[in-house]
Amino acid sequence: MTELNFRRHRRLRTSANMRAMVRETQLDKQDFIYPIFVVDGENVRNEVKSMPGVYQLSLDLLGEEVDEVASLGIPSVILFGVPDAADKDAEGTGAFHDHGIVQKATRFVKERQPDLLVIADTCLCEYTNHGHCGVIENGIVLNDKTLELLARTAVSQAKAGADIIAPSNMMDGFVAAIRAGLDEAGFDHIPIMSYAVKYSSAYYGPFRDAANSAPQFGDRKAYQMDYSNRTEALREAASDVEEGADFLMVKPALSYLDIVRDVKNNFDLPVVAYNVSGEYAMVKAAAANGWIDEKQIVLETLTSMKRAGADLILTYHAKDAVRWLEGKA
Ligand code: PBG
Ligand code: ZN
Repeated sequence: MTELNFRRHRRLRTSANMRAMVRETQLDKQDFIYPIFVVDGENVRNEVKSMPGVYQLSLDLLGEEVDEVASLGIPSVILFGVPDAADKDAEGTGAFHDHGIVQKATRFVKERQPDLLVIADTCLCEYTNHGHCGVIENGIVLNDKTLELLARTAVSQAKAGADIIAPSNMMDGFVAAIRAGLDEAGFDHIPIMSYAVKYSSAYYGPFRDAANSAPQFGDRKAYQMDYSNRTEALREAASDVEEGADFLMVKPALSYLDIVRDVKNNFDLPVVAYNVSGEYAMVKAAAANGWIDEKQIVLETLTSMKRAGADLILTYHAKDAVRWLEGKA
């Protein structure tokens, strides 16, 4: 046989230990953020139909949930409030009540599990009767008027004990407004995890069932980003960095791994990938039909997010993923 000259890549794949030695990306439970939906009422544990394994929980049942998260070694939760429909209004004032659902839940979690970091999602859509992420005038979400309400919401969340403020509403200047509000109120030590790059996405469908936060008219395309755009993501991220963001989030994750990589390469801040509700729902549905191997698919998917440059992953799979990583399930 004539002498061939080629590289033998397979030498580094010959055994499990060999592959482990050269593995470039590791999933670590410390990278996960676990989302929890908190509702008013007692003894409520509603499974979200489109998100098997995810529940709307009332405060009295929250203890067990956060104990489990903490005992798995997941360092943080993000709380989403699901107020009673009767408590919603045009300005979403329930978002910044001292006794709002997220404020109560935050106090509860910090009392029960002081080391577990509480991230507060800062938006108005769960609290407005029209379901938009800000104040409406003539069918348009007003930017600057909304900023004031967001700053108030962030301050009330910090007062309740939130460790990190995570604004998700895509108004221009929201990081600047929230940073100023927090600083003035004595919370200059509280970081902002900005949903810096948030696309208008059909992948949020199941979340809106979970949070009862679907817009009652129109859509969010006039404030969330157009999924066709890439360089615009860098402008969004750059302005949030200038305004004082401490973390940059990209959302959704799976169809946006190119954007995760761009943000990672262009900015020197921790990058968070939000593995959103629709991504979760697709995996759960296919797994329930026996069409895919849920564990393998989830670990591969989460690894791809880290490989793309995510430092942290916000995911509904977090508890299962930790068990799988530790060989417990
Ligand atoms: C609220 C908010 C949304 C999500 C997180 N915060 C919904 C939206 O913007 O419509 C989506 C999360 C998910 O789909 O898992 N602004
Ligand atoms: Zn919103």
